[in-house]
Amino acid sequence: MKTLIKNGTLITASETFRADLLIEGEKITRVGFNLTESPDLQIDATGKLIMPGGVDPHVHLDLPMFDTVSSDDHYSGHKAAAFGGTTTALDFVVLEDEGFEPSVELWMKKAEKAAIDYSFHMNLTRFDDDLAQSIPSLMKMGVQTLKVFTAYNGRLRLDDGGIFRALQIARDNGMLVMAHCENGDVIERLTEQARAEGRSSPIWHALTRPAWGAVESSLRMAAMAEQADAPVYIVHMNAAGEVDMLRYARERGVKVMGETCPQYLFFTLDHIARPDGAKWICSPPMRTEADNARLWEGLSQNILQTIGTDHCPFFYDGTRPILYEGEEIAIPGKELGRDDFTKIPNGIPGIQDRLPVLWTYGVNAGYLTPNQFVAYTSSNPAKIFGLYPRKGALIAGADADVVIWDPEKRVKYGKAHSHQRTDYNVYEDWELKGYPEKVFLRGKLIVDGDQWKGARGGGEFLKRGVGEVL
Ligand code: URP
Ligand code: ZN
Ligand code: ZN
Repeated sequence: MKTLIKNGTLITASETFRADLLIEGEKITRVGFNLTESPDLQIDATGKLIMPGGVDPHVHLDLPMFDTVSSDDHYSGHKAAAFGGTTTALDFVVLEDEGFEPSVELWMKKAEKAAIDYSFHMNLTRFDDDLAQSIPSLMKMGVQTLKVFTAYNGRLRLDDGGIFRALQIARDNGMLVMAHCENGDVIERLTEQARAEGRSSPIWHALTRPAWGAVESSLRMAAMAEQADAPVYIVHMNAAGEVDMLRYARERGVKVMGETCPQYLFFTLDHIARPDGAKWICSPPMRTEADNARLWEGLSQNILQTIGTDHCPFFYDGTRPILYEGEEIAIPGKELGRDDFTKIPNGIPGIQDRLPVLWTYGVNAGYLTPNQFVAYTSSNPAKIFGLYPRKGALIAGADADVVIWDPEKRVKYGKAHSHQRTDYNVYEDWELKGYPEKVFLRGKLIVDGDQWKGARGGGEFLKRGVGEVL
């Protein structure tokens, strides 16, 4: 199958130019002026923007948490991603007692229904000599990235010694450590105190996870990376001080990279304080307007490297079914913590929302250039996670993951537009200008306007190469 996209404006991480783009089979084969092929399908993209499919470096599909599971699986989450212009998603494997291989196998099984391309990170949530020795075996399974946590004491957290060793092992094997940075000890004490005082409402989730904990933990992580001579990627940066820390460390040559997520750019403690504040509960929490502003600045000044979603959706009221592809579905969600903020499943939806919301409130609002938009949401994650230029690029030889974007399309966004399998959307009623019109995955048209043309099982597991330190 040959598809010729004519007269579009191509946007890459570094350039904007008018060109035609030819897709043959699964690949982009030509980018040039006045291409005169005879294709099977020709699309006139006059007035439209052509971008590489989004790469979401941070999602949680089918993730068991507390007494439930994140409500998008590898089909529904991927389908939603595609409607938002994202064609590759990287999610996190839970480390089972049996070790790495059975854990990855379980995730491979879950992902058989994938609808876009995908790869995995491994949660490194315990550390001992046996496990340390088998870390390099993950490379053979195509998993080059390890996530460590400085919070969730007794569950997910490693001590600094374990994190330091993980950084050294990653360095020696061409792997990358990703880090969730909060102060686990302070969180435990503040949570005990809040519960003892009878505090139960969602805002206490945020008040027991202070920004300073994220800031000092991020700096500690950068310092450990420097001492281990290893790169590190800090996930979901949320506080102004983390941007300052990132700048400080990077200016001193530390190989530290930072990701933020749309929720930390748009929302604050005020949202968590609402009567329906549980909808905004995730970890780390949202902060203040000053934090939002500094994160935007960090993006416009290229201090940060990526924008992921940390998509980890739950129902707001999982006792009431929604219709999903014609079937009633209800999955226990935020109501589990109605009387106790510590029982609210942590996470919010966003895999579909990321690109459309960032286009309107990032690019149109003047915080990001279109090229930065592509860099943060596609090319940079592809580079860091060893997928570039197969993903994140509009060049001959790249996978034909292509988004035709209508910069004039106006949408009143929310649940009705979103395919995320949950009963709410944090961007309900937001006015958007600019939206994906057609989305190709390896040359196959999977989204055509509001039509789903993709398939369960249409996504492929991506064996990754060595990533770049940006
Ligand atoms: O609240 C969140 N972010 N849930 C997902 C797990 C994590 O720490 O990223
Ligand atoms: Zn995390
Ligand atoms: Zn996460």
